[in-house]
Amino acid sequence: MNRATKPAEESLIERAARVYDFGAHLRGPSAVSSDETATTVVRPEPVEPVADEPVAERANASPSSGRAEGRAYTPSPIDLLPEWAAPANIAAIDRIMLAEKGMLVPGAPVGALAEEFRLIKRQLLLNARAVSEGPLKQRARTILVGSGKPGEGKTFCAINLALSLSAEKDVEILLVDGDFAKPDVMATLGLDDSLGFLDILGDSTLDPESCIVRTDVPQLSLLPAGKRTHADTELLASDRTGVMLDRLLAANPKRIIVFDTPPALAASPASVLALLVGQVMLVVRADRTTESDVREAVNLLDGCDQISLILNSVSYEPGRGRFGSYYGQEK
Ligand SMILES: Nc1ncnc2c1ncn2[C@@H]1O[C@H](COP(=O)(O)OP(=O)(O)OP(=O)(O)O)[C@@H](O)[C@H]1O
Ligand SMILES: [Mg+2]
Repeated sequence: MNRATKPAEESLIERAARVYDFGAHLRGPSAVSSDETATTVVRPEPVEPVADEPVAERANASPSSGRAEGRAYTPSPIDLLPEWAAPANIAAIDRIMLAEKGMLVPGAPVGALAEEFRLIKRQLLLNARAVSEGPLKQRARTILVGSGKPGEGKTFCAINLALSLSAEKDVEILLVDGDFAKPDVMATLGLDDSLGFLDILGDSTLDPESCIVRTDVPQLSLLPAGKRTHADTELLASDRTGVMLDRLLAANPKRIIVFDTPPALAASPASVLALLVGQVMLVVRADRTTESDVREAVNLLDGCDQISLILNSVSYEPGRGRFGSYYGQEK
């Protein structure tokens, strides 16, 4: 992971370019850098899709039988309860759906992806501590997950980061869907949409806490995107957003807020939110994002001083995975 203060120094791009050849995907997979000394870039390993097998068989799979975290399916504690006994106000995250998407599955054994996100969150937590000593104070507990273009893995990384962070001691994670045009967080977790972020912004009488969805993953709550209006951007750019953010942070001193956002190059919300948050985690898709996309995205998000890059979906060469051999998950 690379960090940069303002892009004036351009160290963020240059450091990323040193360890990742941005044009490699244009020349074919063999050109992708596999430099194992590139320890400053954190690389979530791509996860192969789970084989197309019946859900029942997947649910019975042995935790150690699969390569991806997703294979090690662990039922939600709420799934194990009879329907009449499941708490009504706690949403049950769909572990099977997470497994199918190759994402972290709460309660599953630690694999390569979990280890990558441990590294990522550790760095972000360190950043947050440093930011909290500056003028942003409690806003240090907010992290925006963004990228330049669609499909680079923002939602994938935001959810995995939130799941990984929620395993920390003494924190409460609130994952907010800030992508109003294409809200994917709830659906990816197998949950229905409900009142959310935009509704709170549009109605000052609505208590933000009442819109928060508690989940069966301890210490993880969600705030859906809410109902779209024509005035989304204006609402977001209003003072009310900062006030609402501060209210959410003040309501729980252990709370860390992670925002999933729309692509910065395609829509304005990410750059508006970047002005308010403590840090930005910019997702760069190894097989897709170009250097100029990264530069433009950094420029749009530089309302935040603390920008980190995360290189998503890197292919490793056989036998060279950073955690692959350790976890017996050679490709
Ligand atoms: N490292 C990864 N391993 C496996 N699948 C991935 C990875 N990163 C992203 N994906 C998959 O790629 C697709 C696009 O990812 P995602 O929806 O997170 O992108 P996004 O940046 O949020 O897109 P959008 O801008 O449309 O919201 C999804 O199906 C996601 O599961
Ligand atoms: Mg998304």
